[in-house]
Amino acid sequence: MKTEAWILAAATLSAVLGTLAGGGCAGTTNRPADSFFATKVKPTLEYYCLECHNSKSASKFNQFNLETGKLAMTTGLHKPVIRPGKPDESLFFTVLRLGHAEALAMPPAPDKVSEEQLADIRRWIHSGAAWPEGPEGHLKMPH
Ligand code: HEC
Repeated sequence: MKTEAWILAAATLSAVLGTLAGGGCAGTTNRPADSFFATKVKPTLEYYCLECHNSKSASKFNQFNLETGKLAMTTGLHKPVIRPGKPDESLFFTVLRLGHAEALAMPPAPDKVSEEQLADIRRWIHSGAAWPEGPEGHLKMPH
């Protein structure tokens, strides 16, 4: 009995340590700004924006294409639409705050991003608008 209890305790401890080590490891391999993009920014853009601002349709919507970071930083009639570090000078952010009476309000009526999503996008641009390359940074339509 005594041995079993010890094994159980050791197993629990190593599971806890394993979780801690795993968490610490993830934190050092992914830059925090990138995972903020993946969890707080990308889903909002996929849900509210990609439908119009993608490679096939962007020509109808002021040429602005946000399928990848590279495209988002280099397309649009008023490029650069995103100014890293300067959310209030970024058209990308200001259009999100417009009332629906304005033609440039994004996303177009009746959709509206939440205050929380707005704050996350502001924070993301303010901290440098890091947009990872590769699959993590490639936006896809939600199903
Ligand atoms: C239903 C289609 C549609 C969706 C969805 C949409 N847009 Fe747009 N977007 C447009 C249209 C149309 C314009 C041109 C509006 C105008 O010039 O009056 C535009 C223009 C823009 C521009 C200006 C680009 C430039 O350089 O002139 C930005 C920035 C933008 N949209 C960002 C967004 C963001 C961010 C989202 C998601 C939150 C979004 N849009 C969702 C249709 C859409």
